[in-house]
Amino acid sequence: MATIELRNVRKQWVGAVAVERIDLKIDDGAFVAVLGPSGCGKTTTLLMLAGIYSPSAGDIVFDGARVNDVEARDRNVGIVFQSYALYPNMTVRENIMFPLRFKQVERAEAERRAREIAGLVRIDTLFDRRPSQLSGGQQQRVALARALVKRPHLLLLDEPLSNLDAALRLTMRAEIRRVQRELRVTTILVTHDQIEATTMADRIVVMNAGRVEQEGTARDLYERPETLFVAGFIGSPPINLFDGQAEGGAITVHQAKLPLVGSAAGSVVLGIRPESLHVDANGTPARVIAVEPMGREVLYTADSPLGLVRFIEAGAEARHADGDAVALKFAAADALLFDKTSGARLDARIAA
Ligand SMILES: Nc1ncnc2c1ncn2[C@@H]1O[C@H](COP(=O)(O)OP(=O)(O)OP(=O)(O)O)[C@@H](O)[C@H]1O
Ligand SMILES: [Mg+2]
Repeated sequence: MATIELRNVRKQWVGAVAVERIDLKIDDGAFVAVLGPSGCGKTTTLLMLAGIYSPSAGDIVFDGARVNDVEARDRNVGIVFQSYALYPNMTVRENIMFPLRFKQVERAEAERRAREIAGLVRIDTLFDRRPSQLSGGQQQRVALARALVKRPHLLLLDEPLSNLDAALRLTMRAEIRRVQRELRVTTILVTHDQIEATTMADRIVVMNAGRVEQEGTARDLYERPETLFVAGFIGSPPINLFDGQAEGGAITVHQAKLPLVGSAAGSVVLGIRPESLHVDANGTPARVIAVEPMGREVLYTADSPLGLVRFIEAGAEARHADGDAVALKFAAADALLFDKTSGARLDARIAA
């Protein structure tokens, strides 16, 4: 267990910057998810923490001590990658014990620890099998056991579940969470699945283009996104975003003019989540142009004075059809405003 800090960490390759600048502190025993689009620098960040890459600038700090010059094998970090990379000609036992070979651990003790950790991840009955005789989920558990056998200060998980089918993913999410709680090991999970991030981690770090956009609980990110990027990235189906112009205490969006509380001027973006729009007799007239049943809810697209909007209604049955007239309303408190140029969220709100 350890407190982990990245201080102004940067990683650049010849002609490419993988991580622009990261400043982040992770509490001892915390479970943090790093969420972000492909290529934003997630894996690079993990590899710097593991000591496989060295940062071009900045410091990596474990428990208050700078570890930039500490070799990967001396950092006591466990890693699980998307491809588990088990040794095919070794048994489960040998795979799990492998990381202890380079440590001063006696064979009997190594075996005892391997058994203990195998019990924890529930593969102790498979101890003498080879990876080819295991299911994907079982192999994934072996990889997890192998990462944990050294009793790492830090556990790094880089998309560990993306090779598993949907049902197994659900099970493994809960299992990893349970094991993390039992061991209280500081854990960083890289994923691009926001449900995975939300269900597994205590806090989420949203990365974009080599930087941290925002860090907080899932609720913080959803209710108070600090940037347009976070607003658009968190939430599924995604938030409706409308370009508008703020002037004289109101914003104009397409054919709508909405009064403001607080000051805003120039190009702004109005954000309203699909679940914040409701059909209401006192709403603004709109016309349904697409109906998409999504299981327990129905997603509609409508042509409205704001432009095209998506809204959601609970229930499996569609209550409106293509071409139907509907009146739509949203609570002013649910609308978010952003500065179009900087992407920063504005304090100004739509007046109720
Ligand atoms: N060895 C390298 N040499 C040059 N550029 C690299 C190298 N490794 C990564 N990059 C670049 O750095 C950026 C970040 O890569 P990284 O693998 O960290 O992204 P990621 O967020 O993990 O993406 P993904 O979700 O696709 O795994 C990318 O633009 C990538 O092309
Ligand atoms: Mg990656």
